[in-house]
Amino acid sequence: MGILEGKKALVFGVASNLSIAYGIAKQLKAEGADVALSYVAAHEKRVMSIAEELGSTFVEECDLADDNAIDELVNKYEAKYGKIDIIVHSVAFATREALSGRFLEVTRDDFLLSMNVSVYTLIAVVKKFERIMSEDASVITLTYYGSEKVVPNYNVMGVAKAALEATVRYLAVDLGKDGRRINAISAGPIRTLSAAGIAGFKSMLNNNEPRIPLGRNVDIDDCGSMAAFLLSSKAKNVTGSVIYVDGGFNITAM
Ligand SMILES: NC(=O)c1ccc[n+]([C@@H]2O[C@H](COP(=O)([O-])OP(=O)(O)OC[C@H]3O[C@@H](n4cnc5c(N)ncnc54)[C@H](O)[C@@H]3O)[C@@H](O)[C@H]2O)c1
Repeated sequence: MGILEGKKALVFGVASNLSIAYGIAKQLKAEGADVALSYVAAHEKRVMSIAEELGSTFVEECDLADDNAIDELVNKYEAKYGKIDIIVHSVAFATREALSGRFLEVTRDDFLLSMNVSVYTLIAVVKKFERIMSEDASVITLTYYGSEKVVPNYNVMGVAKAALEATVRYLAVDLGKDGRRINAISAGPIRTLSAAGIAGFKSMLNNNEPRIPLGRNVDIDDCGSMAAFLLSSKAKNVTGSVIYVDGGFNITAM
């Protein structure tokens, strides 16, 4: 029997079969969860075929920058499932211009856009789904080491990830009062649609590898198995944490 048998999960952020959210959705399914998907319109075709593969019967478009759209999604989810056990937030956005060159050049609009989509969406989702969360509901989001140290070209996203990690801590206290949990997985670099927007991403992948204690880059399945653990009762006393799935990269200096 899987460690998530009977759990009802909703995964945000599947855009393609390269997405970290796809790696997580696969593992949740393999561990026995019922996996529902929410996506943005631009990725509909790919998401529908992934939904079929995962046997997902709840597949709904939702722009998380739109509060009314989230309200509608919660109502639809409640009508089908009643309660929710698991939420996966694997969502971020920054403009291409904000992901290259000098951080200093970021515009106000680009800054606010990336904070809105990459940080506030987590707050909005937790706030609006709280009403239908089961007693031991658990949430995860995805972050990156560029929140702590300067990574060339990661720029505004580094600042957004720092805010996201702090958000996880504050939400952990709010949710913890009812026995619910939230954590972040800090993943090493993985080639996905979003990663392709970061200038020099390919050379980052190649140049980092020799510095990784385990000597290899990570993949979406590594994130999936950590997500399944964190979202299960095996991690029942883990909340507000940032857990690294990066082969140990974060502990090294040179
Ligand atoms: N790829 C990496 O190297 C890496 C490393 C660490 C953390 N992360 C994080 O993992 C998460 C997933 O990214 P990914 O690399 O799998 O890329 P991805 O492009 O596959 O996923 C990003 C997702 O965000 C969604 N999204 C963007 N704007 C949205 C909105 N307004 N409403 C709803 N969804 C929206 C996109 O539709 C997409 O599905 C992100 O938070 C990213 O920052 C990625």
